[in-house]
Amino acid sequence: MSVSALFQKRRVLTGIRPTGPLHLGHYVGALKQWIPLQDHYECFFLIADIQAMTTHANQPELIQWAVREIVLDWMAVGLNPQKKNVHFVLQSQIPELNVLYTLFSMVTPLTWIEHNPTIKAEMKSIKDVTLGFYDYPVSQAADITLVSYDPLQNASKILVPVGEDQIPHLESTNSVVKAFHRTYGKVFSLCEPLVGVIGRLVGTDGSAKMSKSQGNCIYLGDSADVVRNRVMKMFTDPNRIHPSDPGTVEGNPVFMYLDAFDPDKSKIAELKSRYRKGTVGDVEVKKILSESLNSFLEPIRQRRAAAAREPIGDYLQAGTRKARKIGKMTVDRALAAAKLNYSDLNR
Ligand code: TRP
Repeated sequence: MSVSALFQKRRVLTGIRPTGPLHLGHYVGALKQWIPLQDHYECFFLIADIQAMTTHANQPELIQWAVREIVLDWMAVGLNPQKKNVHFVLQSQIPELNVLYTLFSMVTPLTWIEHNPTIKAEMKSIKDVTLGFYDYPVSQAADITLVSYDPLQNASKILVPVGEDQIPHLESTNSVVKAFHRTYGKVFSLCEPLVGVIGRLVGTDGSAKMSKSQGNCIYLGDSADVVRNRVMKMFTDPNRIHPSDPGTVEGNPVFMYLDAFDPDKSKIAELKSRYRKGTVGDVEVKKILSESLNSFLEPIRQRRAAAAREPIGDYLQAGTRKARKIGKMTVDRALAAAKLNYSDLNR
């Protein structure tokens, strides 16, 4: 490792598909872990609008709208594109990604994708699987390796904070990179998942996760009234009929949310014991949850409103430019390695 490389910040790249504004599930499962990374690393936060097309190709307006919403959500939770080391990147505006994607597609056996468990699971819920969907892990390998170091000078791996479902894609990325290296020599950095204590939040209906299509979300931008309404309709202990029935706390969505968002742990512990004894009703518990959620969300709403007055387009442009600058070096190395540079044809 060269001396200058030692002083460089470690690179982080992660992404999100712009198919709608972000909700509490995104906060617990991703954003919360991203925020502290800004203090230590060179961070590339990617809005994967091309990857969004793998499932939403027929909704271009939705994708276009969601890009801005996501930047606002990011800034609302405290990601700060004004920091020198924080870059908001828009995937479709990086032509270099297409070069990497094409090169990678030449060294990726179809069977690797066939056996990718996340792709397998996702394919079950998709009717007409497109080519673009099928090989999005290859496209994601390009997203990640775009910000490679020069591997001959710096062996650091790119850190990728993601949820568990994305681990197979990171493994695919490293397999593809190694396959490329076997034929053409070292060009790219490998990546490694950054899995902290990643939480998962059930939907308001108690199903495994919040998802827009199931209408069981609370969005970061929701007003206090919307939050109250949603909470009042939340699922609780299905076996409890009267407020005096002893209730179950485990697996009860209302208590899972209280655990995730209310900082007053002793208050929650007491509430749980009253619930178990049957001395507090669901309505009262829900009122407490509404208040906790709204006091968690209020500063987020305020920062979101402030962000809406900032030059979002400029932030995306600056971050994308930075990613392209590194990406161009990566692409040049890759083309040269594959003997696709023809600077001396006149010889
Ligand atoms: N597939 C990721 C998701 O759906 C989004 C994504 C796109 C991504 N490109 C990435 C994540 C690169 C990590 C790194 O959540």
